[in-house]
Amino acid sequence: FADEAVRALSGATDQAAVESARVAYLGAKAGRLKDLQKGMGAVDKGDKPAAGKKLNEVKAAVEAALDAAQTRLASSSTGPRDDGFDVTLPGVPLRLGRLHPITQTIERMKEIMGRLGFSAVEGPEIEDDWHNFEALNIPLSHPARDPLDNFYLQQQEGREARGEGREARDEGRASASSSPSPLAPNPSLLLRSQTSTVQIRVMENTPPPVRIISLGRVYRPDTADATHYPMFHQIEGLLIDRGVTMADLKSTLRMFCQSFFGAGSRETGEDLHIRFRPSFFPFTEPSVEVDMNWQDGWMEMGGAGMVDPNVLKAVGYDPEEVTGFAFGLGVERICMRQHNIRDIRDLYTNDVRFLGQF
Ligand code: PHE
Repeated sequence: FADEAVRALSGATDQAAVESARVAYLGAKAGRLKDLQKGMGAVDKGDKPAAGKKLNEVKAAVEAALDAAQTRLASSSTGPRDDGFDVTLPGVPLRLGRLHPITQTIERMKEIMGRLGFSAVEGPEIEDDWHNFEALNIPLSHPARDPLDNFYLQQQEGREARGEGREARDEGRASASSSPSPLAPNPSLLLRSQTSTVQIRVMENTPPPVRIISLGRVYRPDTADATHYPMFHQIEGLLIDRGVTMADLKSTLRMFCQSFFGAGSRETGEDLHIRFRPSFFPFTEPSVEVDMNWQDGWMEMGGAGMVDPNVLKAVGYDPEEVTGFAFGLGVERICMRQHNIRDIRDLYTNDVRFLGQF
């Protein structure tokens, strides 16, 4: 009967069949095993040990079959036939977020310049005339102030809630307080067109020596194309100390580029060079354009120079005592070169198929 019981249990396809087999063979009242136990009384004394052993074996075999049948049905009850959920299908892949390539570039630049002893500082993106122009030796008549080249902010006169406006007016910029029309553009507030503004903010608040970088967004009303965008990022560097020279500027930039693009990199090899071309900025003298050799040519990195004595005076430094260098490089340009990105607009359309590559 053990064989019969095991067959019945292993053939059972649902809980009801298992249960009725259990009652029939192992049931406490009328189960077949119970009958056998009752029959033990009639067995000869001498045969009892052998019969008892046999009985236990049968019981163990039937119980094992019952266990197996129950486990089998329990596991298949979560299978596809029950509720359509197939545990064997692969899971839906999770999409992991990651840092934007520009953010990655910025983090890397901070890390490299940090090792050269430059600490990162931040400045506001809404700036006043003093920090964006005047203290940087850009006079009122300078074309860099042209409304066509800057995002000036229009302000409603008397709107005291606009904190930035109040601050700028309190500083007494003549153009702001004399504005007659309530909606006239306020020439003293604009989206900063360069991170050089942060040079002024830092020097106004700290005595020399100064060794900082500032990374952030700048704004210029350029039409977007493959290489222009009305918003982009700059890395600004400023070092002020006794006896700083152009040689310090050049070796700092060279070390920065060497670290950024990697000494043994395929493109640059070991011989990375920085080239200075004469240029002009109101806030540096002399001024240069900085190029780095790249593949077979030169890649423009940005502008640099020795901080103009007028700028040092504007922030209360003594140009007889300290000198310094400053540079401003385009973050997008460096990022695009590193990753071979052809169109700056790709960085700002937020297409995950593009962003997922970095
Ligand atoms: N501010 C300049 C620009 O945006 C770059 C620059 C920074 C040049 C510092 C000289 C020194 O073009």
